[in-house]
Amino acid sequence: MLKSKNMLTLKGQRSASRSDSVEADLLLWWEDFYLPIFAYILPKMGELEGKKVLELGTGTGGTATLLAKRGASVVGIDLLPFRLTEARARAAEHDVAESVEFALMDAMHLAFPDNTFDFIISKSVLVFTDHTRTAQECYRVLKPGGKAIFIENMRHHPAVWLYRKAFLRYSGKLHYFSLHDVAAVGAEFEGLEHREFHLSAVGALFWQKGISIPLFYRWTFGILKVVDAVLLKCFPFLKRFCWITAMICHKD
Ligand SMILES: C[S@@+](CC[C@H](N)C(=O)[O-])C[C@H]1O[C@@H](n2cnc3c(N)ncnc32)[C@H](O)[C@@H]1O
Repeated sequence: MLKSKNMLTLKGQRSASRSDSVEADLLLWWEDFYLPIFAYILPKMGELEGKKVLELGTGTGGTATLLAKRGASVVGIDLLPFRLTEARARAAEHDVAESVEFALMDAMHLAFPDNTFDFIISKSVLVFTDHTRTAQECYRVLKPGGKAIFIENMRHHPAVWLYRKAFLRYSGKLHYFSLHDVAAVGAEFEGLEHREFHLSAVGALFWQKGISIPLFYRWTFGILKVVDAVLLKCFPFLKRFCWITAMICHKD
């Protein structure tokens, strides 16, 4: 059971506190799959009180709001004005409107001076952009000692690949990540650590999106997460077939 402020608990666990469950809701969609990822990255960010954070491609502002609730002063940018309107409403709903600013801006052309932010974060956004160009802009606006955290969708998971081919018409236009892309983004910084998530665990979605049996979904997800941990430890080459990667890039 994870209890510290830097950890998230799975929504629905009996002992999960209300604030944990609010945080899970702020991950917006596929939240069960993002909980372990945020449990990995939030401790890397440490104490957020007074820290300046930029969120690229904020969408409806879930992550920006989550970080503002932890004390950060956040700027969320996006290319879509209606998303920014939704994001402002979400921040207001969670009483952090004063700690979050939202702006219409392209992640590849950031209108901030050099060395502005302690952290930059993005979730499912770099796939829409030129990875290297975006990483270079992030490096520029990050303070020395800062970290840029990119959570991205990977290219080679067989079931996810099939799903994209069948149902996501725009997916052909996106640049999903390979491990080579992870290394290329990391090469724009002085340091890179990364972890890949969800290999067999994706199979649990059958009991959510295929035949909806929530109990089977929770059981299968719990078991397959353990299977993944063992598989990825014993056979590291399987990381390239995971669904999601989380990169933490360091600027000296
Ligand atoms: C898949 S959504 C993810 C939204 C949010 N990060 C989340 O996880 O809920 C991708 C978002 O990135 C935004 N986006 C795409 N390209 C962008 C760019 N070059 N600069 C800023 N935002 C961009 C889109 O408008 C969209 O809101």
